[in-house]
Amino acid sequence: MQDAYAAALDRLTESSIAHDYDPLRRFSWPAALAPDDWTMPPELLSVYDTPLMDALDPRTLKALSLWESMNFYSMTLHGERRLIAEVSGHIHTPGFEAPSGFFHRFIGEENDHIWFFSEFCRRYGKIYPDSTVSVSGGGRRPELEAFLTFMRILIFEEIGDTFNVRMSGDARLPAIVRDLNAAHHDDESRHIAAGRQVAKRLHAQLDLSPDEEADAAAHLKQHITLTLQSLYNPQMYEDAGIPDFYAFRRELLRQPGRRRHHGAFLARSLAFIRSNGICKDGEALF
Ligand SMILES: [Fe+2]
Ligand SMILES: [Fe+2]
Repeated sequence: MQDAYAAALDRLTESSIAHDYDPLRRFSWPAALAPDDWTMPPELLSVYDTPLMDALDPRTLKALSLWESMNFYSMTLHGERRLIAEVSGHIHTPGFEAPSGFFHRFIGEENDHIWFFSEFCRRYGKIYPDSTVSVSGGGRRPELEAFLTFMRILIFEEIGDTFNVRMSGDARLPAIVRDLNAAHHDDESRHIAAGRQVAKRLHAQLDLSPDEEADAAAHLKQHITLTLQSLYNPQMYEDAGIPDFYAFRRELLRQPGRRRHHGAFLARSLAFIRSNGICKDGEALF
C-alpha cells in the first residue's frame, strides 16, 4: 500500500500533467514594451520604502523597473539551471523513488521556464550574467547535504513565487509580464508543494546532532542572505542611469524599510521552517 508521502507526490505529478502546456505557443510576444509602462511594480523594486526611491525622477524609476525585472528573470533562470542539475543528481537514486515521477515533471517545467524567461530578457532587454556566489560548506554526510539542497531549492522558489503572484495580478503591467508570471506561479505552486514534502521527509530521517543543526542553520542563513542580495544587482542601477551605483546599492542594503520587505518575501519559508521544527529558531535565519 502506498504511503501518504508517495500519494501526495503522485497527485502533484497528475496535476502537473493535467496542466501541461506548450510554452512555444502559450504566449503572445509584443514587438516591444511601451517605455511608459511599469515592467515591475514600484512596490517590488529594491528601492521601495526608502528615501532613495523618492530622490529618483519618474523616468529613472521607470527605467529601473525595466532593469530590475531583467535582473529578477535572469536570477530566476540562472537559479533554475542549478535546480535542474541538483534534482537530476537525485532522480532514480536510492531514497528518491517516490518523488522521481514528479522530478521528471519538475525538470521539464524548469527547462520551459528558463526558455520563456530568457526569451523575455533577450527580446526586451538582456540577460544579466550569473552573479550568484555559491554557499560555502561541504564535508557533510550525504543525507544532510540532500536535505540542504532541497531546502535551498524551496526557499529560492518561495521567494520568487511571492514576486510571481504579485506581478500576475497587477493591471499596471503589460499582458506578457502578467502571463509569464501567472504561468510560472501555476507550475511553481506544485514545485513548492512537492519540495515541502521532500524536505520534511529528508529532515525526519536525519536525527541531527546539535552541531549539525547549527551548521544547517548557518548554511540556510547564508543562502537566504545571498539570494536577497542578488535582488540588488549593481548593474541594474547602472543601466537605469543612477550615478555611483555601487554606493547606491550599499546604501539600499542598510535601509530599515528593506528589511521589512525581505521579511515579507521570506514569510512562507520561515513559517514552514518553524512549524516543522527544522531550525529551532526560524527567525534567526534572517
Ligand atoms: Fe521555475
Ligand atoms: Fe520551480
